[in-house]
Amino acid sequence: MTLRPPGVLAPLPLGHIDMPRTAEPPAVDPAVSEFRPGAHETPSFFIWTLGCQMNQSDSEEMAGQLLAVGCERAPSMALADLIVINTCAVREHAEAKVIGRQGRLAELKVAKPGLRVVLTGCGVRESERSGLARRFPAVDMFLRPDEEPELALRLALVSAQAPVGLKMTATAATTVVSGRPVSAADHLAPNRATALSEGRVARSSSVSAWLPIVYGCDKTCTYCIVPFSRGPERSRPFDDILAEARDIAAAGFQELTLLGQNVNSYGHDLPPEERFEHICTERSSGRKLDLQGRPDLAELLRSIDAIRGADGLPAIRRLRFITSHPWDLSDRLIEAMAECPSVCENLHLPIQSGDDEMLQRMGRQYTVEHYRERLARIRDAVPGISVSTDVIVGFCGETEGQFQATLEVLEELQYDTVFAAAYSPRPGTPALRMADDVPAAVKRRRLNELLARQESIGLERNREWLGRDVEVLVERITPPRRHLDPDDADALDVEATNEPVSAVPQMYGSAGEGSVAMAGRTRHNKLVHLAGDPALVGQPVRVHIEHAGPFALRGHLVEAPGEPDVLA
Ligand code: SAM
Ligand code: SF4
Ligand code: F3S
Repeated sequence: MTLRPPGVLAPLPLGHIDMPRTAEPPAVDPAVSEFRPGAHETPSFFIWTLGCQMNQSDSEEMAGQLLAVGCERAPSMALADLIVINTCAVREHAEAKVIGRQGRLAELKVAKPGLRVVLTGCGVRESERSGLARRFPAVDMFLRPDEEPELALRLALVSAQAPVGLKMTATAATTVVSGRPVSAADHLAPNRATALSEGRVARSSSVSAWLPIVYGCDKTCTYCIVPFSRGPERSRPFDDILAEARDIAAAGFQELTLLGQNVNSYGHDLPPEERFEHICTERSSGRKLDLQGRPDLAELLRSIDAIRGADGLPAIRRLRFITSHPWDLSDRLIEAMAECPSVCENLHLPIQSGDDEMLQRMGRQYTVEHYRERLARIRDAVPGISVSTDVIVGFCGETEGQFQATLEVLEELQYDTVFAAAYSPRPGTPALRMADDVPAAVKRRRLNELLARQESIGLERNREWLGRDVEVLVERITPPRRHLDPDDADALDVEATNEPVSAVPQMYGSAGEGSVAMAGRTRHNKLVHLAGDPALVGQPVRVHIEHAGPFALRGHLVEAPGEPDVLA
């Protein structure tokens, strides 16, 4: 069901680049401006990305579109002709961040009348489209996540002078979930295939690549807005994913992360094929689906792991996936994790609560016992695996005893990292029918208590690495503090920058001449700070761990670059 025709903005007026000019550019009729040749005619853009890895991957596609039609990246929001805000709506705070920037955006628009602001991501939901202009008054155009492939088209940037013609495989339509119009995910897989074939995915890193494998979410977690912002699940065809992984390997990426809201359900909506006859992934509990003969995540991991270099080792040395839903975590997946040398010894497995009644109210479909059993099996199959989780405190009706049960489970399961948040009611979600009866102060207190408890657990887990030599994939030069969180750090000011962080190196104490502070991750996803030559960014190095904190490790180089121990 299509609810509204796609709106197309008037072409961006010309000459909005902040550069000294000797003469004013001639007035241009907007109707013909897109056909005028010249590089300066396309706007410079800045994409402000909030939220999860899926949003980061989507932003890479949007940047690819804009670059393909001749736009250039602006060094900051303040200097851009076009600002694209890729929003998150998982909690009220995430949306409030963007609402809070409307005043500053309005100021920028007064200073630069041609500035266009596009708002997209999970903050744009069909059912609330009529209220968007009121909540985000500085925004010119709103695109749902599934409408993002149409960004350049709707900005009327696709034109005769564009070096690459933007082809749409299909355009967005709406679909209905629980009686509400939501994003459609059907066309996203073919559109990604087209974007890849036309070189229109501008990856933000040359070390680690995102690879979406399934769009949307079919789960019904009662607190969660994602099914309403991203629509129902759609798996990308197996061969498309493999082809993209091969390209990523050929381009020399060291790390690949498969993305989906629930990667464990990958493939259930694809047609059965003879070549997958050996696969029968049953749901571990709850509803049983006929999944015979369809590819699953385990098959994907094995096939990507089988892409080998001339040395016979996996061409992509580190393979990760996120996020796993405990209900769909199959034995086949656990076996693949254990047997594929490139699959990292790390798993993100959200538990959300340590109490069965709360889990049921959250619509999570598993029990604590089921979760325990899955985790024990993984730890058995992959000794030493690091595990992280998500927890919500103060969900509707959570008693003190139920919260204590969550603390006990954290103590018992000894996570490496916990991402915890206080429950935030989200418009249109089923939980709105329940009473949000845990007072804000109680939510805050529970959250602080949980984080404090986890801090000591995390510290203990990290201390196990002291004195060991580990492989660290150097990801970046550590920027000065104000650059650490571009979401928060005055994202609309000139400090917020598209430049690689290596543009602002920080000298590292006694590390020696030419050494800079750097950070990278181990296969277990431990953040490690070290000092070294900037040329090491993107390289695997061996680091001796000499300090452990609750959230990160610190060490010194013992050898660089080196062969990875796990793959050797
Ligand atoms: N698909 C993943 C899963 O199965 O857990 C998580 C995706 S969700 C975007 C990321 C996390 O945000 C969730 O695991 C949950 O802990 C948290 N979250 C989602 N909705 C929330 C809400 N209304 N209030 C607080 N936290 C929420
Ligand atoms: Fe949200 Fe649940 Fe889907 Fe995760 S699995 S995105 S928490 S509905
Ligand atoms: Fe946020 Fe949407 Fe991701 S709500 S966490 S950006 S899927």
